Amino acid sequence: MKSRVLYSVVILGLVLGLTACQCGGKPAVQPTTEPEKPAGCAPNCTYADMTLCYPQLGAESDWRTANTASFKETAEELGFKLVFSDAQQKQENQISAIRACIQQKVDVIALPPLVEDGFEQVLTEAKNAGIPVIIVDRSVSADPDLYASHIGSDMVLEGERAAEEFNKLMPDGGAVLELSGTTGSGAAVGRAKGFRNKLNDNIEILDSQTGNFTRAEAKPVMEAFLKKYEAGTDFQGIFIHNDDMGIGAIESLKAAGVKPGDLVIVSVDGTRGGFQAMVDGWFQADVECNPLLGPQVAEMALKLMNGQSVDREVLTNETVYYPDNAAELLPTRKY
Ligand code: AHR
Repeated sequence: MKSRVLYSVVILGLVLGLTACQCGGKPAVQPTTEPEKPAGCAPNCTYADMTLCYPQLGAESDWRTANTASFKETAEELGFKLVFSDAQQKQENQISAIRACIQQKVDVIALPPLVEDGFEQVLTEAKNAGIPVIIVDRSVSADPDLYASHIGSDMVLEGERAAEEFNKLMPDGGAVLELSGTTGSGAAVGRAKGFRNKLNDNIEILDSQTGNFTRAEAKPVMEAFLKKYEAGTDFQGIFIHNDDMGIGAIESLKAAGVKPGDLVIVSVDGTRGGFQAMVDGWFQADVECNPLLGPQVAEMALKLMNGQSVDREVLTNETVYYPDNAAELLPTRKY
């Protein structure tokens, strides 16, 4: 089975050579009203017929690593060809990779968009080429007619869940800092919105800065926060948009003499690192965001190849994890 699966790693230079210039200004390609055509093998296409393009946005976090592994493992198990690339957190790389997939005439593109805006033109190009697109994980702001479906988490709900934890843990109010994800990403925008939707009026968001979803970038942001504000006096809590940034922030907190439990910290993802931070007493709650989306996306991609209808939006069922059983659950975590 393994030998039937080919991974095509798209090298940026090659991609740029293959793809057309996005010359700025208005989209050169106008949306078509023609209906999508099912693949030649429809209605009996199997996974062996399928080439799925996955232009991954980067490798910024343990969540992302697990998401990539989910797609690679699913391709191996089901026997479809995966055209995988890593855009290294650069939208222009992701757009180039999508264009390379269009040129390769893949059957379906599954796109985890780095940010919400700026995909209109390339999605139009995919539509005009008759290649269905599934938006995966984060959302896009483009016209929904340009893609078949979105499969991923409800990022607004995740932010709301985090706010509810602060409301419980800080009943008398206070001030919190926010370490937010990649600016303009559906995950950061949704979590920030949800957090503000539900946070009690007696809790002030003292400051909010991005750590771009990475440990490396979160650490100096937390350091700067700690120079500006006194932990425990100026603020009592931190809402952190993902576990990797939480782990980076903990390094800065430790260096500043802050101890586990001195602050209320709520993070998002539910990675092993997040569970360890709960076991160690740093996080008081971890809002789940599930990266294991490969099987669902593959199933939908095959349906699209066979001309079957699919749901416009498929949201992942998620929960909130707590320190009381974190040690017990940690060994069972898949990511
Ligand atoms: O879009 C999902 C988010 O992206 C995850 O919370 C984060 O860890 C990742 O980088």
